[in-house]
Amino acid sequence: MKTANRTGLVIGASGGIGSAIEAEMRRRGFEVDGLSRSANGLDLADEASVIEAARSLSDARYDRIVVSTGVLTVRGTPPETSFRRLDPEIMARSFAVNTVGPALAIKHFAPLLRRDRLAVFAVLSARVGSIGDNRLGGWMSYRASKAALNQVLRCASIEFARKFPEACFAAVHPGTIPSELSTPYARDRFTATPTEAGRQLNDVMDGLSAADNGGFFAYDGSVIEW
Ligand SMILES: NC(=O)c1ccc[n+]([C@@H]2O[C@H](COP(=O)([O-])OP(=O)(O)OC[C@H]3O[C@@H](n4cnc5c(N)ncnc54)[C@H](OP(=O)(O)O)[C@@H]3O)[C@@H](O)[C@H]2O)c1
Repeated sequence: MKTANRTGLVIGASGGIGSAIEAEMRRRGFEVDGLSRSANGLDLADEASVIEAARSLSDARYDRIVVSTGVLTVRGTPPETSFRRLDPEIMARSFAVNTVGPALAIKHFAPLLRRDRLAVFAVLSARVGSIGDNRLGGWMSYRASKAALNQVLRCASIEFARKFPEACFAAVHPGTIPSELSTPYARDRFTATPTEAGRQLNDVMDGLSAADNGGFFAYDGSVIEW
């Protein structure tokens, strides 16, 4: 469905999923701004660059903001399969990019959401960040950084609802999608192509309302337990 005059911002627009989300938003009639580290120097691990990027867009107001950044392999190190391999520096870097980074994006970009009608702020989380769903263990740094991201998102949903009663903050899981982040570990068990994921995630976001504020949703719209 094409709806005129909707505006969007994709942070992490250079990524496999971020670029597909941006392309699908354009297809649905959004005017979209894209930001990324490689194209715009927006490094979510550096608050000064986040402030600068937000300042460059300070006149914009968005119906949809999507944060599609993240790391799984950190400085060439694959996710841990055992506590024997846990490295505090790698874990801290996972948190810096996967948790603190999106928190800074919320801090500096959420004020750019529209207030006069429904607006969605979505962060790309991951089902493996669900504590209730964790039956395999492993990937402690990535799992814990996404679980913490979910908590950050939930805090944002409560705080911003006071000033943005029409807004919906959501954590979304894209499925297993081929990308630089996932391909080394997915053993070809992909649930969709990046283009399909862009479509599915925009379907989910199109279906959200303020009643869904603070939720965690999979690519098919189902609710994921925390
Ligand atoms: N692919 C999957 O199967 C899957 C499954 C579950 C969840 N996810 C989540 O989906 C999101 C997107 O992943 P993807 O598969 O599209 O991975 P990707 O293709 O590797 O893209 C990762 C994106 O994160 C950006 N990024 C990394 N570190 C950054 C930093 N310090 N500052 C700013 N941007 C940074 C990259 O920017 P540059 O390239 O410009 O540096 C790139 O845009 C992630 O949150 C991931 O955890 C993916």
